[in-house]
Amino acid sequence: MTDSNGTIKVGEKIYDTKVMPGTIGPSVLDIGSFYGKTGMFTYDPGFTSTASCESKITYIDGDAGVLLYRGYPIEQVAEHGDFLETCYLLLYGELPTAAQKADFDYRVTRHTMVHEQMARFFQGFRRDAHPMAVMVASVGALSAFYHDSTDISDPQQRMIASMRMIAKLPTLAAMAYKYTVGQPFVYPKNDLDYTSNFLRMCFAVPCEEYKVNPIIARALDRIFILHADHEQNASTSTVRLAGSSGANPFACIAAGIACLWGPAHGGANEAALAMLAEIGSVENIPKFVARAKDKNDNFRLMGFGHRVYKNYDPRAKIMQKTAHEVLNELGIKDDPLLDVAVELERIALHDEYFVEKKLYPNIDFYSGITLKAMGFPTSMFTVLFAVARTVGWIAQWREMIEDPSQKIGRPRQLYTGSPRRDYIPSSKR
Ligand code: SDX
Repeated sequence: MTDSNGTIKVGEKIYDTKVMPGTIGPSVLDIGSFYGKTGMFTYDPGFTSTASCESKITYIDGDAGVLLYRGYPIEQVAEHGDFLETCYLLLYGELPTAAQKADFDYRVTRHTMVHEQMARFFQGFRRDAHPMAVMVASVGALSAFYHDSTDISDPQQRMIASMRMIAKLPTLAAMAYKYTVGQPFVYPKNDLDYTSNFLRMCFAVPCEEYKVNPIIARALDRIFILHADHEQNASTSTVRLAGSSGANPFACIAAGIACLWGPAHGGANEAALAMLAEIGSVENIPKFVARAKDKNDNFRLMGFGHRVYKNYDPRAKIMQKTAHEVLNELGIKDDPLLDVAVELERIALHDEYFVEKKLYPNIDFYSGITLKAMGFPTSMFTVLFAVARTVGWIAQWREMIEDPSQKIGRPRQLYTGSPRRDYIPSSKR
């Protein structure tokens, strides 16, 4: 891949620039010296046409509905691998050998416990605190317990912090859930795989042995794979920006969790299920579709639309298949929410408003139905998204730290406020 020359014409002036090609996908125009040459900033709120970095981790072709993890199609990774294999792939760039996978599983498993004092940390929350509030706080608080892995200039400490977060997020997530339902925290068990361990920490009670349903565990593990990484989405960009200041890795991931919470982003799975419940029945769908199309109504179909995908989100297809698989396994024959979801999707995909705006179901449209069937309350849906996305945030954070061209992120602005004016004493206002 070789750069080529480009030019930018502003008025009568022509400025040289560089066109940098990617392996696949759009090339970029290097405008790093644009301000120095022109005295002007480029302007792109929402970064719809702006590449913030160079990355080798994940590639999305929004028009084709393609998602690649280190070059491997999401359909194949989700079908053949497990979540920890995906974590290894995203972190190291290659699929692990059997020995590498066994070693990685062993290392993650033995970091799943959290410092015992973390349990006391939870007591400060009301029982009805949203689990995402608990996650933002508790993940940020990890930096207060693991001082030996906060020096980001040390590759060894970066790796330990990475393993700790991949391993401890499920434990903290399960503790956040148990705290809201008033049940005792359940310790991880080293003889269980990653996702089975998480299910047991969430749903086991001291009064009886908890038996993991392997079909449910496999389905949730696949859901984690689908959520693991997704290029420079809002929360990943938050983690990169926080990391560019040199903040410790736990603080950066806590910032990512905070951003993911928004209903336009990772909070959409919780919002989508609430929307399906509000619609309630297939008969009510036309009314809500009309509201989604009404410019004067800020109602949106949650779980629909995407900044990048202008085709079907490939993850949504796998999520839909997983929803049916889980409902069948659990003997849920006619889930009214699934009926509403399937009919809503059918209507929306044939409605000229959605077709013209290229609005398709995204990963959040079917995930809520599946997670609810598994027994998770809606308030835990985004927490599960955060558990899975932690590896993506960490892989992107490490890539940013190890990028020799990395510098603190500091965007500029178009200022349209008041020109300079002198202070007016209060007696004269
Ligand atoms: C995730 O970035 C990622 O990769 C995110 C994610 C990941 O893995 O990290 O994929 C996870 O966040 C998925 C998205 C989850 N969010 C939702 O489902 C919330 C509902 N969707 C929308 O809010 C919206 O589609 C966004 C936020 C997802 C994308 O918004 P954009 O790219 O800024 O697009 P837009 O808001 O400018 O919408 C374009 C047009 C607008 O109409 P016009 O102003 O052009 O007339 O489409 C309309 C919007 O009004 N529109 C919708 C709609 N989404 C967009 N209309 C009705 N319902 C919707 N859901």
